[in-house]
Amino acid sequence: MATTEIKKDIHWVGAVDWNIRDFHGYSVDKGTTYNAYLVLDEKVALFDTVKKELKSDLLHNIHSLIDPGKIDYLIVNHVEMDHSGSLPAIIDLVKPEKIFCSPAGRKALIEHFHRTDWPLVEVKTGDSISLGKRTVHFLETRMLHWPDSMMSYLPEDKLLISSDGFGQHWATSERFDDELEPGELMLNAAKYYANILLLFSPLVQKLLAKVKEMGLEFDMIAPDHGPIWRSNPARIVAAYEQWSSQQCRDKAVIIYDSMWQSTEKMAKAVYSGLLKEGVHARLMNMHNNHRSDVMTEILDARAIILGSPTLNNGILPKMADIITYMKGLKPKGRIGAAFGSYGWSGEAVKILTTALEEMNIEVVAESIRIKNVPDHEALKPCVEMGEKIGRLLKGKNAAAAGGDA
Ligand code: FEO
Repeated sequence: MATTEIKKDIHWVGAVDWNIRDFHGYSVDKGTTYNAYLVLDEKVALFDTVKKELKSDLLHNIHSLIDPGKIDYLIVNHVEMDHSGSLPAIIDLVKPEKIFCSPAGRKALIEHFHRTDWPLVEVKTGDSISLGKRTVHFLETRMLHWPDSMMSYLPEDKLLISSDGFGQHWATSERFDDELEPGELMLNAAKYYANILLLFSPLVQKLLAKVKEMGLEFDMIAPDHGPIWRSNPARIVAAYEQWSSQQCRDKAVIIYDSMWQSTEKMAKAVYSGLLKEGVHARLMNMHNNHRSDVMTEILDARAIILGSPTLNNGILPKMADIITYMKGLKPKGRIGAAFGSYGWSGEAVKILTTALEEMNIEVVAESIRIKNVPDHEALKPCVEMGEKIGRLLKGKNAAAAGGDA
């Protein structure tokens, strides 16, 4: 049996997707899980389903516990297809008495599946239902990360079923945070936040404030992806508080691509200047790094430095890719600069600088263009760029910490 009882009479019955590697642009090289939860009470309730292709895994898991026909309620916390793709088949099989969803969820379900015969019941923040021994309270989380998103809170179990929130893409046989290596756990959670939720950070802050205001106590957070936070749910809540505040450290990410290593020489010179100032720096050549790993590094980096040579009066395609992706995810409160080599026309650096400005990244050092191959002397301004940004980072973080540097 592949199910796990996460609380008394509450079972994980989801599916592990060992094979997925791309989640609309986000590299999920460890696969993922689609978590669904079956609550066995006087009313039997299934919270969320799984993607269409893994429907039989979900059904197999439910069958191992009960006859699926005994399910009374379905709760649809989120309509995105990874959680609802198997919903039509499950509804046809189960014939549930009621399907609970948010008002936006109702619209989304109809727009996705075009079924008007489903017994949909809208619930809003503050609404609750009884399952018998336990109740379910609903908390709408609009735009976290879809308009329909909501979470379900079971106070008798101090359990928050958090939909996409607090999730991560990691296919494992283990179901709980304390069964996994802590560093990898938090890194995967950070990657998920950086690639899915960063742009919604102001809403995450509001949600965390609302949870505090409502006085919700939870000793378990069960997301729809990845491990369940059992050992210390406060740890992931604290991480979300930090990430959503866009607090960064004195760290710089140099994101670049290069044709014949001239721009790469410049990147390394900028990097050496940062190191001289004692700043943590990452060199990320877009030829070898995935955009979603770059975003993970950006999550706690105050400085974003871009480099590209000029190609066909523009920038290299992989730089255009990361800039488009980063713009959508809206990192805030960053500083940056741009550099690049060129052969004759040299537009790339201007394009990179404009991209930084469009992202409201404060350009704090003069852009640098170098014609053809730089020698040691020509690289000095790049070293100085790194030093200048390094000093600013140290100064900013010292100021934030109450220092006077
Ligand atoms: Fe995991 Fe927004 O779906």
